[in-house]
Amino acid sequence: MTGKIIGLGSYLPEKVLTNDDLSLLVETSDEWIQERTGIKKRHISDHKTETTSYMAGIAAQRAVEDAGIEGSDIDLIVAASTTPDVVFPSIACMVQKAIGAGEDCGCFDVNSACPGWIAAFLTAQSFIEAGRAKKVLVVGAETLSNYVDWTDRGTCILFGDGAGCAVLEASEGIPVSSIMRSSCERGDCLFCANMKQPDRLDDEEFIKTTSFQMAGRDVFRFAVTEVPKIIRDVLKKAQVPADEIDYFILHQANARIIEATAKKLKIGLDKFPMTLQETGNTSSASIPSLLSTMKKEGKLQRGQKLVIASFGGGLTWDAAYLEY
Ligand SMILES: CC(C)(COP(=O)(O)OP(=O)(O)OC[C@H]1O[C@@H](n2cnc3c(N)ncnc32)[C@H](O)[C@@H]1OP(=O)(O)O)[C@@H](O)C(=O)NCCC(=O)NCCS
Repeated sequence: MTGKIIGLGSYLPEKVLTNDDLSLLVETSDEWIQERTGIKKRHISDHKTETTSYMAGIAAQRAVEDAGIEGSDIDLIVAASTTPDVVFPSIACMVQKAIGAGEDCGCFDVNSACPGWIAAFLTAQSFIEAGRAKKVLVVGAETLSNYVDWTDRGTCILFGDGAGCAVLEASEGIPVSSIMRSSCERGDCLFCANMKQPDRLDDEEFIKTTSFQMAGRDVFRFAVTEVPKIIRDVLKKAQVPADEIDYFILHQANARIIEATAKKLKIGLDKFPMTLQETGNTSSASIPSLLSTMKKEGKLQRGQKLVIASFGGGLTWDAAYLEY
């Protein structure tokens, strides 16, 4: 048994922040940001109305509609987020309400920073393989803009808000191959110490002390070393040669990280689709949003061989091989 992706959906906030807009906030330029990251713009949520759960709910509704099923058909919701609205209820519970799933639907969240959606996807796969669930909704959603230090040009240029979602259905087939890795030893280069309080989001001093911290160069080095390695290892585990893969769906953090990964794997960059130009790094929303965009563009066909891979805070890095 395996969980086939039968529906995809995504949501991006209406407000767009371009590189030129950012150059009014910090000392930077469109040219620098594009050259060092590939990012042209990102979407920023209205923190009063476009909460993480709101965006997750819309992405989930779109994925359910795309799958051609009803919300009440879903028997498990796993949500990934590092920026939930509140400590509890979980984002998954709020999504249950948004899609009209019944009370016989299990709901919980996972937090594994940017690879969170892969962790949620693999959790869903395990429920399906064990026969504990048949139709599972896996959603990733983030309002990172609430946690970014908008005076730090080394981090604020990278991140954006959004949500992405997939519906998985139990189907005959080989289980997904996967590898999950983590290193708290190396975690200091990317961390966020405190939860935001929604009623203090206009308090600049509070925001600054609760913003996340990043040593960009260290994270870059970690990513370009570990991502190609974990992809090679997961393909070896799945016994599938790299040149048979249709698409490598990588975490949308920085075009240079994706380019370096393609080069190390000796695979053409055309097999590494990117949406980061338009969205920036949306953390756990990054991979499902990219999949949703690819489906809308007609790039996803049944039977295609895909690798998904991500890295982020923890440090954590995960990869999986699946057939679409
Ligand atoms: C953050 C990142 C874009 C910085 O790019 P970089 O090429 O490593 O740049 P550096 O940090 O080496 O800085 C180079 C110079 O540009 C400057 N700089 C940094 N940010 C800048 C900006 N937004 N605009 C202009 N100059 C900037 C630095 O101050 C530095 O100046 P100096 O040489 O005078 O000291 C890059 O390191 C990165 O993407 N890292 C990975 C981050 C990531 O993926 N995080 C999420 C993980 S989920």
